[in-house]
Amino acid sequence: MNVAKRAVARIATRMVLSRNYKIVGVGTGSTVGFFMEELASRPEAKRLQYVASSIDTARKLASRGLLVLDPGTVDQIDVYVDGADEVDPKGNMIKGRGAAHLSEKILAYRSRFNIFIVDESKLVDKLGEKRPVPVSLVPSALSLVVNALKMLGYDVELRGGNCKDGPCIDDHGFVVLDVWTGPMDDPERVDRLLQSVPGVVETGLFIGLTDLVLVGRSDGGVQEIRTHRTRGLHL
Ligand code: A5P
Repeated sequence: MNVAKRAVARIATRMVLSRNYKIVGVGTGSTVGFFMEELASRPEAKRLQYVASSIDTARKLASRGLLVLDPGTVDQIDVYVDGADEVDPKGNMIKGRGAAHLSEKILAYRSRFNIFIVDESKLVDKLGEKRPVPVSLVPSALSLVVNALKMLGYDVELRGGNCKDGPCIDDHGFVVLDVWTGPMDDPERVDRLLQSVPGVVETGLFIGLTDLVLVGRSDGGVQEIRTHRTRGLHL
């Protein structure tokens, strides 16, 4: 697994450093961890500026001497690199195992070019085959959202808490639920449905936000899949 992750991280680093990019958005998770390691090993990476999708990523970038900007002050990101939990043939994804999906979606929407780096275990025919959809919500709406999602027919799990008793709270103070949808024929419709419940802030369904998926194999090979981006600030 690590061979595959390192391989995609290396190619993504090469792509980011070979273009005339100035501001790079960085996702969260173990695959992105390899990307940050690769970046930090290249002196030219110090000339770029970075926007992080989580406290974890911001700390890891800064500890490697890379300049991290406040996301609220950046108008546009040149390129965004992130991992994913599931990727379907159109490049739609489930993200948010690390509860960073809200910031990740904000950065991906704002970025001109989005590269997602995964190992082949993340590829599925239909989203929801293996993983739940993370949903973040305002704490005061917790019972409303749980009941509403159950009435819609989903299995809902309150994700366990970070370093405290009780639910997982993300970097923004929102509660995170995991919603088991099963394989989805129309993930865009499911996303609309989930977002229609008052109190829901964001879901981990990423629809139309992918430009390129790099898929790493355990033998170190990397497949590049170009996808059709349909959402974003610059479109
Ligand atoms: C963070 O909340 C997630 O969206 C991650 O980007 C996703 O879970 C991929 O993580 P790994 O690279 O650790 O599998």
